[in-house]
Amino acid sequence: MTYILAIDQGTTSTRAILFDDQMQVAGSAQQEFPQHFPQAGWVEHDPEDLWTTTIETCRRVMADLDVTAGEIAGIGITNQRETTVVWDRKTGKAIHNAIVWQDRRTTPICEALREAGHEALISHQTGLLLDPYFSGTKLSWILDQVPGSREQAGNGDLLVGTVDSFLIWRLTGGASHVTDATNAARTLMYDIRNGAWSAEICDVLNVPMAMLPEVKDSAADFGVIQADILGGEIPVLGVAGDQQAATIGQACFRPGMMKSTYGTGCFALLNTGETPVVSSNRMLTTIAYQLDGKPTYALEGSIFIAGAAVQWLRDGMGMIENAGQTGELAPQADPGQDVLLVPAFTGLGAPYWQPDSRGAVFGLTRNSGPAELARAALQSVGYQTRDLWEAMRADWGGETDVTLRVDGGMSASDWTMQSLSDLLGAAVDRPVMQETTALGAAWLAGMRAGIYPDQERFAETWALDRQFTPQLAAESREAAYARWKRAVQAVIGV
Ligand code: G3P
Repeated sequence: MTYILAIDQGTTSTRAILFDDQMQVAGSAQQEFPQHFPQAGWVEHDPEDLWTTTIETCRRVMADLDVTAGEIAGIGITNQRETTVVWDRKTGKAIHNAIVWQDRRTTPICEALREAGHEALISHQTGLLLDPYFSGTKLSWILDQVPGSREQAGNGDLLVGTVDSFLIWRLTGGASHVTDATNAARTLMYDIRNGAWSAEICDVLNVPMAMLPEVKDSAADFGVIQADILGGEIPVLGVAGDQQAATIGQACFRPGMMKSTYGTGCFALLNTGETPVVSSNRMLTTIAYQLDGKPTYALEGSIFIAGAAVQWLRDGMGMIENAGQTGELAPQADPGQDVLLVPAFTGLGAPYWQPDSRGAVFGLTRNSGPAELARAALQSVGYQTRDLWEAMRADWGGETDVTLRVDGGMSASDWTMQSLSDLLGAAVDRPVMQETTALGAAWLAGMRAGIYPDQERFAETWALDRQFTPQLAAESREAAYARWKRAVQAVIGV
């Protein structure tokens, strides 16, 4: 048997998944690691945790299935995006903890850049907004804080990368300092139209270009891992940021196709083909994947609270013991009540981008209880997706599929997916394969290794588990959505 090993280095845990030669999951291992919150709004990871959990989960899944390095044709890596690591080329040690995508510390840097008039250039070249979410200002902050680091970086002694780069550099014993176009597209330093690092933006951010990785296709030769790590040499053949890997795993290869992944937050991507579409609705323009030197672009909408609304019911409110109970409670909610939750716990993401807004509940009565709040939490996911759906379709202008492909933990809830379909007024397709992110990374590597099908045939393997179609009358749907929009405006205004 020949396998592909997918590494999914996420925000709260690292997973290693072995796929067999039929692209089926043979086994997996997972390990959580500590989150560090040194100040309000700051989020860090110890890069050593990212490294050790990667190695340990790979070793564990191989041992569990009794698979040797010689049986693995290639490795595919997918990762939490934007999170930034700077390390010493000689020692391999990071000079600072990784600054995580959720970290807001560089808000003042973004404001200063905006005031200095740099936003238009940055947005045009990168497709992104001037927001602390992306890597560029995080890197700038590290270079400002660690004495002498800018000079060292200029001499080529310090390297920077997103998590994929850092892991590959370690796995290859320092032989490869590389990334792929999807990860580069999240750094705020990559010109997504020219397919090159932007000297102008690096200059604005005061980042020495010598420290940046080489950017490759998503399926490429990224280097060979050292034999002593997993008991033999294995090539790294696929890399993509996790949301892009899910887009690939969902086979959203035709322009107009759209996927939405429901984890802690929700990330929706709409394939726009060979053209980068500029958003008039504060969506991001990004690279969905790059194959054979050709980038395929996407519009992306990111919302910060999806599954986290259910976690709030469990951990903040103590109303439920496990997330699954929400799906049981929601159908019991009183149909005569219209409790509505705007879960702006950490501000609002796309399309509002209001970091200072906070959450609110509307429509409470004396009869409102856990069932009504559970329904409101699950519906808030639908309303927020509708916001993205509307904004992206307006930006795109072209024909879009009338279905949304969904994945991630919350997509397992039938009630939530039905409600999503009702609020969108569109079909919601849930695939049989739940591991879309890992599959995306595995397919990139397996296709490159020559053991998995080409893009077209891979798309044909996508199989439907269940389709949810709208059951709500259009009038009720639009009335409910109009109420949501008013509620969001109220939240922004407070
Ligand atoms: O942009 C951030 C995203 O890539 C994080 O994904 O699944 O690690 O929370 P996840």
